[in-house]
Amino acid sequence: MGTEEMSKPWKMVLFCSLTIVTTANIVCMNLSRTVQPGTDKSSLYYSSTSVFCAELTKIALSTSLLMFELRSFSRLKDVLRNEILMQWRETIKLSVPAIVYVIQNNLSFFALGNLDPATYQVTYQLKLLTTALVMRVLLGKILSNKQWGALFVLLIGVCLVEVEKIVPVASDVSAHAHATGLKAQRGEDRESSRALESANASFAIISGIMATIGMTFCSAFAGVYFEKMVRSQPNKNRSNGLSELSLLWIKNIQLYIFSCVSALGACWLNDGANIAQNGFFHGYNTLTVVVVLIGSAGGTATALMLKYLDNIYKNFASSMSLVLASICSFLLTGQLYGPKFFLGSFLVCFSLFIYQSASTTAAAKSRTTSDQAQISPKGSTSLPIYTPNNITKA
Ligand code: C5P
Repeated sequence: MGTEEMSKPWKMVLFCSLTIVTTANIVCMNLSRTVQPGTDKSSLYYSSTSVFCAELTKIALSTSLLMFELRSFSRLKDVLRNEILMQWRETIKLSVPAIVYVIQNNLSFFALGNLDPATYQVTYQLKLLTTALVMRVLLGKILSNKQWGALFVLLIGVCLVEVEKIVPVASDVSAHAHATGLKAQRGEDRESSRALESANASFAIISGIMATIGMTFCSAFAGVYFEKMVRSQPNKNRSNGLSELSLLWIKNIQLYIFSCVSALGACWLNDGANIAQNGFFHGYNTLTVVVVLIGSAGGTATALMLKYLDNIYKNFASSMSLVLASICSFLLTGQLYGPKFFLGSFLVCFSLFIYQSASTTAAAKSRTTSDQAQISPKGSTSLPIYTPNNITKA
């Protein structure tokens, strides 16, 4: 038997939970990185330390969930020893996505420090494209024309939002250059320092977008890798009667062990000198703790999503959180968005809808093809078609 089926209502609950947790994560992370009036950037916590704390909390959460499944502490100890220490070759395999996720998490702090939550979220939707590319390369998944069309609509949506965000800054710079020429004699220094600020703002937006695109590749690769691992059927002799959920929490713990090690390395590399001077928990407050807790809850929801739905659904959930994050951003800061932003956001959501319906059609076709293959004579040379449920066979 393959992956245990989850009922549709539970899938909806899982989908909504991931959407809400992702939105909360973006909003809280952004708030926690905002410099308060009267303070400066040096008062902020080091983002690398919060990533490490989140990974550590994820181990605690997954171990508690495993304990809940096993309902016995001595069994938990046995399972951890047998499945993680004795099966060290399996454990080592999880080091690959762990390292990639830590890079992604650290990039996310950089990106959010330079972009507003909505632009960050919309740009990050490019992961639908990179996920499709990685699936093509690693799993041989072939997209239909409709699916590629949906991805192009997504790109247009993303560009519309970005144009609206970037153009005002760029025109500020040129307007500013003009103004500087006219008022050269008066306040030249003040004007040129403002021009420098505008140029810095443009640079911040572009570097934030570059970091977010980097994250989309990390997300795609690690997500596809983890999905493949948790969907691979456990050997009945090897699973020791463990439930599929127990096996998922074990895979999570294996993943997070490496994530912790890489996150600690990132703390040392990025903020080592500052941590030595000001302490590991410098700048921590209640909001930082909330960011850590929400981050670990999001990880657990993501693991469930990859096990019982797939990467596309996971991406779809984070696209929905784009809309929620925009509403939150408006409620919190009063920041208004123009028509291009709304049109762009609409196209992003609409493209995801088209992609979703095309995936359903592709899955149905794939089932028909495999049924026909079973009854057709040998020698059929049709290409393998990926569906969420045959990923491990692809
Ligand atoms: O943006 P994306 O959906 O790719 O982010 C996935 C996030 O989920 C990563 O930050 C990673 O740390 C987390 N994750 C997790 N546990 C898993 C799989 C992913 O915490 N089993």
